Amino acid sequence: MHILLAVSGGIAAYKSAELVRLLRKKGAAVRVVMTRSAMQFVSPLTFQALSGNPVHTELLDADAENAMGHISLARWADRIIIAPATADTIAKLSHGLADDLLTTIYLAATCPVYVAPAMNQAMWHKPVTQENINRLIAHGVTTIGPGQGDQACGETGYGRMSEPAEICERLLGRPSEQCLRNRKVLISAGPTREPLDPVRYITNRSSGKMGYALARAALKAGARVTLVSGPVALAPPVNVDVINVETAAQMHEAVISRAEAHDIYIGAAAVADYTPAEVQPEKIKKQDEQVTILLQKTRDILAEVAQLPNRPFTVGFAAETHELETYALGKLTGKNLDLIAANWVGRDQGGFDSEQNALRVFWPTGRQTLAMTDKSHLAEQLISLIAKRCDEKNTA
Ligand SMILES: Cc1cc2nc3c(=O)[nH]c(=O)nc-3n(C[C@H](O)[C@H](O)[C@H](O)COP(=O)(O)O)c2cc1C
Repeated sequence: MHILLAVSGGIAAYKSAELVRLLRKKGAAVRVVMTRSAMQFVSPLTFQALSGNPVHTELLDADAENAMGHISLARWADRIIIAPATADTIAKLSHGLADDLLTTIYLAATCPVYVAPAMNQAMWHKPVTQENINRLIAHGVTTIGPGQGDQACGETGYGRMSEPAEICERLLGRPSEQCLRNRKVLISAGPTREPLDPVRYITNRSSGKMGYALARAALKAGARVTLVSGPVALAPPVNVDVINVETAAQMHEAVISRAEAHDIYIGAAAVADYTPAEVQPEKIKKQDEQVTILLQKTRDILAEVAQLPNRPFTVGFAAETHELETYALGKLTGKNLDLIAANWVGRDQGGFDSEQNALRVFWPTGRQTLAMTDKSHLAEQLISLIAKRCDEKNTA
């Protein structure tokens, strides 16, 4: 396996030296590219000694046969890993800039590309960085991390580069087999908005990240994917049929009308349980000390899908603040689901709007825990579990 490691200019660059060592130990051939900033953190000599190859730093490569080192390096690589990936490099890649060797190789690459972001937690959470990383993910790049914990700057939070051992494992692990080849998968994601008047609505904290990660993972596993999405601030995944909706009623219509034409339905949306009984035609005025809003129960999309005559393999999500297992199992049997993925919300880690999550998965004859990891990795694990259970059900 040929691994091209691209190092950009962050404190975590020193960890990438260990990554080279681990990759070579596992038998991979490694070549290293460094940005100018990266060379201020670690000397190219370190990477040259560890990789056993000269380090590439300049776009213009007079030694290359045709002075186009970027093309030959992109062709040489079976996988490219950018670690650490700085906020700056992520921004450049997501906008197609190509003003140095690293960014030009990315544009010339046809192999799978991975990024391991590493930066201060405030830089990571900045909306523009989130937009940039989501755009890269939508373009097919796989993220590894970042993790959570103490940072070099003394702060704590998300932004730590994943440990070299984890990156090594993700890079050299077998590419996920196409376990959903020729399957049609319908996924609902994000929150709903239930209008009170022309300017106000009731919603929830769902970011849609888990549902979008599942859509990408299903696509990668060979499925044809339809994504019914509530309002989110995420770039639509490439090659996925996206249907945008706003209210629980619209999501109900969009899902029920398509469910029977799909093999699998994954209800990852946080659909409002209640909606205002009446939508005021004009903006509600601030007058009385207290107002009462009468709420009406919405239709249960998941339960209705599970009752369709030609129901797809039906997967639900349970986001709970307490008694996770009891509620999840109650939902599994009460709604006659094939599988349910449960997670804690309203805690310090994971859940809504978080970059990471852990899941406890239950089905009628078993259960499995998927440990805390980034949502894209978690989504791949869940998709492969769903594919396995679905195959077992079809052959039972
Ligand atoms: C001491 C120091 C540490 C830095 N650490 C990081 C970091 O961890 N992540 C990051 O995104 N930027 C970091 N920066 C800023 C980048 O080095 C800067 O944005 C640079 O332009 C990145 O260039 P590159 O992406 O081409 O490598 C750091 C800067 C300094 C001076």
